[in-house]
Amino acid sequence: CGIVGYIGHREAYPIIIKGLERLEYRGYDSAGVAIFDGEETQLCKTKGKVSELKRKVEETINAKGTLGIGHTRWATHGVPNDVNSHPHFSNSGDLVIIHNGIIENYASIKKELIKRGYTFYSDTDTEVLVNLIEEIQKIEGVKLGKAVQVALNEVVGAYAIAVFDKKKPDELVVAKLGSPLAIGVGESEYFVASDASPFIEYTSNAIYLEDEEMAVIRLGRDVKVRKIKGDALVDFNTQELKLNLEQIEKNGYDHFMLKEIYEQPSAILDTFRGRLLSNEGIIKMSGVEDNLQKFLNAKRIIIVACGTSWHAGLVAEYLFEDLARIPVEVEYASEFRYRNPVISSEDVVIAISQSGETADTLAAIKLAKSFGAFVFGVCNVVGSSIARETDAGAYTHAGPEIGVASTKAFTTQITVLTLMALRLANAKGTMSTSEYKKFLFDLESIPNRVEEVLKSDSIVTEISEKYKGVSNCLYLGRNYNFPVALEGALKLKEISYIHAEGYPAAEMKHGPIALIDENMPVVVIATKKGHYDKIVSNIQEIKSRNGRIIAIVTKGDTTIKEMADYVVEVPETSESLTPLITTIPLQLLSYHIAVMRGCNVDQPRNLAKSVTVE
Ligand code: G6P
Repeated sequence: CGIVGYIGHREAYPIIIKGLERLEYRGYDSAGVAIFDGEETQLCKTKGKVSELKRKVEETINAKGTLGIGHTRWATHGVPNDVNSHPHFSNSGDLVIIHNGIIENYASIKKELIKRGYTFYSDTDTEVLVNLIEEIQKIEGVKLGKAVQVALNEVVGAYAIAVFDKKKPDELVVAKLGSPLAIGVGESEYFVASDASPFIEYTSNAIYLEDEEMAVIRLGRDVKVRKIKGDALVDFNTQELKLNLEQIEKNGYDHFMLKEIYEQPSAILDTFRGRLLSNEGIIKMSGVEDNLQKFLNAKRIIIVACGTSWHAGLVAEYLFEDLARIPVEVEYASEFRYRNPVISSEDVVIAISQSGETADTLAAIKLAKSFGAFVFGVCNVVGSSIARETDAGAYTHAGPEIGVASTKAFTTQITVLTLMALRLANAKGTMSTSEYKKFLFDLESIPNRVEEVLKSDSIVTEISEKYKGVSNCLYLGRNYNFPVALEGALKLKEISYIHAEGYPAAEMKHGPIALIDENMPVVVIATKKGHYDKIVSNIQEIKSRNGRIIAIVTKGDTTIKEMADYVVEVPETSESLTPLITTIPLQLLSYHIAVMRGCNVDQPRNLAKSVTVE
């Protein structure tokens, strides 16, 4: 979910609604705002997207006032409908709250509050929290800040909240545990939001709350940050933001996803800028260099991640094992954290996350640290929770990724992981110097090659037109391109809702081959290097069962051209670097098919960009 709040001298509603649009990547099942108009709190909420909310606000309320909060939701408790949407009032109607996260022990608290006469109108855990705060205010006669603090000491779960009391409209109270929360500090005005994007045009000064911290924001006073447990005042830093508005706008593209696909040459370049010094034969990554011995002494590397980042982890498994000869295990963070893993201080854990906020990945990191493992983060969002929680790390520098389906984050993650694998291979001597140097030059040429693959957009559009109506699709690849097959399938199902599966090409004969008929397109990644003959045999197996073949081939390949229904040519490169190139046509394929099917590409149904619940 995404939250936004404003207190100051401007009209709050326009700031909040625009902020919610920017935060929609965090969830878009339902949305709502509460604006204090000087006497009453005007509430408007609805199932559906922020655009729907905008329409409803115009029709139903007078959203005038300089204090307000808003929310865009990714449902956890209760189906997405008008009633379950945030903000939520307390029973008296004085308090109003927005909440991103989950209150796990809400049921027992709710029971107690019902006994004390409270009525609940929604199925949410959030309504329980706001009434608990009200009850504490009543019983203990304390101010809002104190009541929030006492309440949060009673709840188990994760949250970023903002709450105000209409009887004290110069004050906004916020708190954080597990979900992100930034406070924008302007001239006699304050903004709060899940990330800084809602307020970058107003101020570049921000305070990022740490877990278990809360802040009382009062007009005319300095922000007070304190620990939720123990009450101590916190000496916080106000950071200067580097984000600019242009970075989070579409720049003439129809969708963020397309813009981000096309940004990949420059994003990859940004990722290795200053790190890859090919002429000197040097890779400079301070996070790796400062901890080189830990990597070199590691018995194994465990990679934890979710979704697309997990696929980048799978590519890294090939890279680290193949180039640096270090054993690697790749784990879904959600499985790893709950299955009593065997892990020790001799393990190095790499956590990969675009957002740096994924709850399962964050929890896996904490678990690994508790066993004494050294944890290295590969994140895109600077200053994110995972970036702060890890012992060291390397940012991907892809710039903000807004489209829910991850594209440039994936290729830049692979770029960072390739740099790491090469540096370790060089340090361990598992690769000859000449081979190593050749790799550096090859890697350096990737942005140009990606640029070249992007020119295949027209053929990919033609393929999309042909297959946009199918209900199933299979993706096959071997070796380094097996994870790419998984990622290609994930992209298609995420945004076009076509069922798709990725498989290691040779494994096809143990199952998916049963699905193949003349209606089944099979996307095969079949570049020249990497078991080419074997994959040609796999293509023949599909052909003889009448399957439709879309092959990603190395430029100039004639053998596969004769067998396949369509080919997309990609430039040649070292096998270990092919994922950076073969991924691109698969991203374009899913994009065009989704657009042709009339799907909402940037905000596919039921998904969210940043999943801060487990
Ligand atoms: C969500 C997003 C995916 C992403 C995954 C992991 O499911 O929709 O695109 O790959 O979370 O997110 P992270 O930010 O940790 O990479």
